[in-house]
Amino acid sequence: MQDRNLALEVVRITEAAALASARLMGRGERKQADNVAVEAMRVAFDELDIRGTVVIGEGERDEAPMLYIGERVGAGWKQENSSSPKVDIAVDPLEGTNLCATGAPDAICVIAIADDGQFLNAPDTYMQKIAVGPEARGVIDLRESPTWNLQRIAKAKGKRIEDCTAVILERERHADLIAEVRQAGARIRLIGDGDVSGAVMTCNPDSGIDVLFGTGGAPEGVISAAALKCVGGELQARLRFRSPEEAARAKKMGVKDEDFIYSIEDLAAGHVMFAATGVTKGYLLDGVRFFGDGAKTESIVMRSKSGTVRVINSTHHFNTKPKYSWATGLES
Ligand code: FBP
Repeated sequence: MQDRNLALEVVRITEAAALASARLMGRGERKQADNVAVEAMRVAFDELDIRGTVVIGEGERDEAPMLYIGERVGAGWKQENSSSPKVDIAVDPLEGTNLCATGAPDAICVIAIADDGQFLNAPDTYMQKIAVGPEARGVIDLRESPTWNLQRIAKAKGKRIEDCTAVILERERHADLIAEVRQAGARIRLIGDGDVSGAVMTCNPDSGIDVLFGTGGAPEGVISAAALKCVGGELQARLRFRSPEEAARAKKMGVKDEDFIYSIEDLAAGHVMFAATGVTKGYLLDGVRFFGDGAKTESIVMRSKSGTVRVINSTHHFNTKPKYSWATGLES
């Protein structure tokens, strides 16, 4: 991807989604919070000079009215003979819908962009993941046990396992994983939702997180891979099907070996960029803070080509930019 400015433009889209969904923080309306994020993102895409195709989105066309897989987004499609870049788009307009609905930490709005055809068309199923930051890159192996991986991560980072912290989604299916990590002596941060944030945290030394273990969404795996690629982390993943129907659907989408271990390059090839804006205050980003006639947001923008990580703090004034000021979609 050539356009360095694109990364800075993309953040407007995640900001718009965050401003919209944050209005619904703690209101118990997870679907509605997602809907307003989707709508805000969809509108904001029209101002971006790209010819984008949604590869990871809100679902298939018949189940998602906006940002469905295959949808074309961006101003470039509306111009004749456009030279605007053709790109793959991966979106999670509100990653952690429950986190937003309950006001819990680390709900974020996310976009990743790659050159045309470079993101894996991941089926909507589960994915088992292990993710680490740059210091532990090259020492992990998803085929090995959590204990084996923790030993290698601790050694690579020059610390004891007892001083390592794993982030794991709090799910019944992770009971054995959690027990083993505890047995190995590591500390754990259990999260209710949001394994994209969890994966990104492994690359931020200030987060205190050393590794993400566990099974979450496959689309989130592609987005996490794009983020980790920008900062030199590592992620390995394999698909985990919840039903024979999901396995059959994945087969139709071209998945030949269900135990294939995907690397970052398999999930997000070439140059990528990643942008996220915080909705609720979290370990990764601050949340949206409303004031009289506006709000403040915090975002992160990263490009794999340069490795530059930008944290962008924005102040939005709704009297000059009224578009998203009350975009909750709720009857008042
Ligand atoms: P939503 O934002 O769609 O609610 O997803 C949140 C999430 O926690 C993801 O971060 C994670 O990958 C996935 O859900 C885990 O799925 P499940 O809730 O079925 O365990």
